[in-house]
Amino acid sequence: MTQKKGFFITFEGPEGAGKSSQLQRLAETLSRRGYVCVTTREPGGTPLAETLRAILKEHQGSETLHDKTELLLMEAARSQHVSEVISPALEKGNVVLCDRFADSSTAYQGIARGIGVDTVRGLNDFAYGNCRPDLTILLDLPAERGFERTRHRVETQGEIDRFEEENLQFHHKVRDGFLQIAAMEPQRVKVVNADRDVESVAAEILRIIDEFLP
Ligand code: TMP
Repeated sequence: MTQKKGFFITFEGPEGAGKSSQLQRLAETLSRRGYVCVTTREPGGTPLAETLRAILKEHQGSETLHDKTELLLMEAARSQHVSEVISPALEKGNVVLCDRFADSSTAYQGIARGIGVDTVRGLNDFAYGNCRPDLTILLDLPAERGFERTRHRVETQGEIDRFEEENLQFHHKVRDGFLQIAAMEPQRVKVVNADRDVESVAAEILRIIDEFLP
């Protein structure tokens, strides 16, 4: 069992919300303040979990990647990531900043794919054990805005993955799913309006963090 001494922060949100760059900014700010930060992401974060990420994001060809398989691969990657990276870092007293975690499974697989919230939450618990996030920053923006930002990235960088390829209706469900999670767990999940300039978003995130971190 993990003897958790550190602090576990996850960043969640629909596509195009700017999670990765806000997470990086926060890690830099906290490091300057003397915290030891570990930044990581899901699916991924270990060599094995990154292999599963590539399958999950890029799978093509004649064999369908079924929704249940997708969920189980997400959870397999999570279990490996928690055991190899997140728990050990928390045991050392580090601040762990993770780009997506179990709430993404609830929103994408549980709600948008329609597998069901209870089923996914059960599997999430199984995968992460007692390694629960202390705080989750939900970067929220309308699905249309996320769609525009993703399209812009695809036009400039050329690549689109299995999730980005889904239609707008799917992305509406993802966003609603995240907002449902935030409504269910307001103590842990803090909603930040991401449809603003990066400086304002970063400042609000820091205000929230300051209430939680010693
Ligand atoms: P990203 O790193 O660019 O956000 O891509 C990861 C994709 O994987 C994103 O589209 C959301 C999706 N995802 C799920 O569907 N379920 C999950 O549990 C996780 C962690 C990610």
